[in-house]
Amino acid sequence: MLLAPLLLPLLLLALAAHALYKALSSPLNRIPGPWYARLTSLVLKWHEFRANRTRYIHELHLRYGPAVRIAPREMAFASAGAVREIYCSGGSGFDKTEFYDLFRVYGRRTMFTTLDKDHHARRKRIIADRYANSNIVRPKPLGGIAERAAKFAQRCAQSGLLVEFQLGLHAYAFDCVTHHLFHPHGTDSLLQGGKDEAIMREVTFDDSLQNRLFQHYWPTAHRLLHKLLYLFAKPRETPLADHFVLDSCNADDSAPFTLLDRLREPAHGLDPLDVAAECLDHMAAGIDTTGDALCFLMWEVSQPRSMRFQRKLQQEVRQTKAESPSSFVVDGMPYLDAVVMEGLRCFPAIPMSLPRYVPPGGRTIDGYFLPAGTIVSCQPYSVHRIDTAVFPDPDTFNPERWLDPKGDAERKRLLFAFANGGRGCVGKHLALAEMKLLLQAVYSRFTTLPDATMTEADMEMSDQLISSRPAGQRCLLRFVPLQESELLE
Ligand code: HEM
Ligand SMILES: *[C@@H]1O[C@H](CO)[C@@H](O)[C@H](O)[C@H]1NC(C)=O
Repeated sequence: MLLAPLLLPLLLLALAAHALYKALSSPLNRIPGPWYARLTSLVLKWHEFRANRTRYIHELHLRYGPAVRIAPREMAFASAGAVREIYCSGGSGFDKTEFYDLFRVYGRRTMFTTLDKDHHARRKRIIADRYANSNIVRPKPLGGIAERAAKFAQRCAQSGLLVEFQLGLHAYAFDCVTHHLFHPHGTDSLLQGGKDEAIMREVTFDDSLQNRLFQHYWPTAHRLLHKLLYLFAKPRETPLADHFVLDSCNADDSAPFTLLDRLREPAHGLDPLDVAAECLDHMAAGIDTTGDALCFLMWEVSQPRSMRFQRKLQQEVRQTKAESPSSFVVDGMPYLDAVVMEGLRCFPAIPMSLPRYVPPGGRTIDGYFLPAGTIVSCQPYSVHRIDTAVFPDPDTFNPERWLDPKGDAERKRLLFAFANGGRGCVGKHLALAEMKLLLQAVYSRFTTLPDATMTEADMEMSDQLISSRPAGQRCLLRFVPLQESELLE
């Protein structure tokens, strides 16, 4: 009885001693990092909830180097060797963590949300073909994209030359991806607006970061408290998009180049909800990524410091014939390619960690042995900046670094914007075609300039669950029609 008041403090002491023992004896202690990362993940979570994970981890890389411990069981890397091991070993690298459960749609797992290699490989065998570059550059798929790029330029010309153009780019990316998924039932949010634009806005203005992080870290509390939580942090809700995809998947006249047409082939044995889930996932994956990658890139190209790059880009794209989109995407245009690469390097639309588990038996990465079950990742933002021998002056936007044949292989090895290996971005060639055709459509007709009401703070990187967007959620540019004379300078 006398001991009862002592019981609680003793218990707490024992727990603290146990935590301390575990912290002191962890095999990860050799790895550099802030002292508190040995004991707790709270600082990391704090930055995550403030939409600041990417910057925080980058700061740690700058201080501690390319291998850094960020939480008791979590490690971040930024070297080419780590990328190869984590994302490419055995073809598709290490298995994904349950973080990806947050991206399930209609309660189903899609290619993106499968966690282990085998499930992933099975789904990828069905899908890959529709995103192969040889499919993207065929006249129908590519012609559809070129048509939408022309519509974007038309919208710029119509709207009094001041364009809320982040939204315009999301509309463009939305129309392009739905064309590839559902043609002839793609959207026209660029010029028609209405219902299609409403879907695009619903997906673009999603603000579910905190709610979904809470669900990830404290699933039981989330189940019990979700009604209360709703008052402070909204869950992801996209009813218009959900319905649109279910409806589009019902149509039975989809064009042979579309993903829908492929998924529905009976041989694959996918039920209608699997098909819809896969399409919804690709639709979501294709809007903010391509939209914001273009937005950050065009914002940068519009700055006075980058005007000389814009002039050279204009000169190059004006020389091509607009009626041959495929020859220009296939053959490549050196300056345009360099601008796109540098845009993806400086502003990767998914700048954040792509978390994976160290497989059974443990692995050695960057010289550090990591036991099975450790969470490891690389974030494109840091992979693109940490090696200053390959990317000197890494925070400066300079497309011309890509024109130097020396170091080309090293630069490409470190380009991680589309991730790498078997689980890298399946939509890469579609995204690249969209970006190039849009830049060609705009810069063969206009000079773009930042609007005076815009601030640096509007364009700060704001992390979402995995992608990142301009913090102000708006981007205003002025589109000034090009005069012949400007190009003769
Ligand atoms: C500039 C634009 C884009 C960027 C920077 C980008 C980046 C990425 C990255 C980094 C991943 C790997 C994610 C991870 O491991 O967690 C990924 C996967 C994926 N992306 Fe993209 N993406 C872009 C455009 C697109 C487009 C247009 C589509 C359209 C269909 C798409 C569809 C997908 C899918 C389905 C996956 C999952 C692949 C798999 O698990 O096998 N992406 N993307
Ligand atoms: C984000 O993280 C960086 C680096 O740790 C820090 O300097 C900055 O103050 C943080 N911003 C916010 C909004 O927490």
